[in-house]
Amino acid sequence: MGEDKGVMLRIENVAHSYHVGESMQEVLKGLSFDVPESSFVIIFGPSGSGKSTLLNILSGLLKPMEGKLMFRGTDLYSLNPEQVAGFRAKTLGRVYQTSYWVKSLKVVENVSLPLYFSGWSKRSAQEQAIKYLKQIGMDKYAHKYPTQLSGGEQQRVSMARGLVADPDFIVADEPTGNLDTMSSDMVMSTLQGCKAEFNKTIILVTHDLRYLPMGDIVYELQDGRLVNGGASVTQSPDKRNVAKRFSSLAQEKSAKQGAGQEK
Ligand SMILES: Nc1ncnc2c1ncn2[C@@H]1O[C@H](COP(=O)(O)OP(=O)(O)OP(=O)(O)O)[C@@H](O)[C@H]1O
Ligand SMILES: [Mg+2]
Repeated sequence: MGEDKGVMLRIENVAHSYHVGESMQEVLKGLSFDVPESSFVIIFGPSGSGKSTLLNILSGLLKPMEGKLMFRGTDLYSLNPEQVAGFRAKTLGRVYQTSYWVKSLKVVENVSLPLYFSGWSKRSAQEQAIKYLKQIGMDKYAHKYPTQLSGGEQQRVSMARGLVADPDFIVADEPTGNLDTMSSDMVMSTLQGCKAEFNKTIILVTHDLRYLPMGDIVYELQDGRLVNGGASVTQSPDKRNVAKRFSSLAQEKSAKQGAGQEK
């Protein structure tokens, strides 16, 4: 166990397939990697490469057909369903591309939900929710309904909901997928702050290559396998080059778009 100190998640030979009619579609073909404590891990790759499937496995939602997921030395899928639910409620915060709301509840109540599930009283849960909404500058929307907010505002509120139970581990599946650049940057800097200020461990899936340099570790998933090894951006010259290449490509692209828009 001693040697695992510093590793939050160890993914060992994880493989997964889906039934498609009579046959099986192999989606993840044997992945192994570590997620260190307090690291910012980014996974990118083409649509259909298995990113969301992998995140669902890492979140305790989908048992892989093969392989193991060790969370701080414990095999997550050897736990009973209540223990997995406990892990999800206390340790994990999830942020999605689209926000899912209980539409009849106000923003503050939606953000309080993860705490209700952990047994908090309504009053203290709402106080805590307001604290988190304040932190991301969204407390003025607390008493609106989520559907009265813009997409970017909703996404920021959903970050507050993902963070309110103070999880150690945040899994974000394309949280900026539907947002304009400014809202995307805000979401990303909130995630960065979670790591930098609160030592959270973050796993982010993104299509937005501009953000790759923010990762401590960047993995590319292609056709169910990790390519480029997933070395650390800060430690590996290779990885740094990949990140730089994508970031300059993205900058060129946004400069072109910007020039087009300003005319
Ligand atoms: N529940 C399911 N049943 C059957 N096939 C599935 C299921 N979920 C995903 N798939 C298939 O598995 C493959 C990987 O899907 P996944 O959602 O993990 O990809 P992704 O990398 O997240 O894609 P995107 O970037 O579009 O979100 C796809 O071909 C998809 O159609
Ligand atoms: Mg996906």
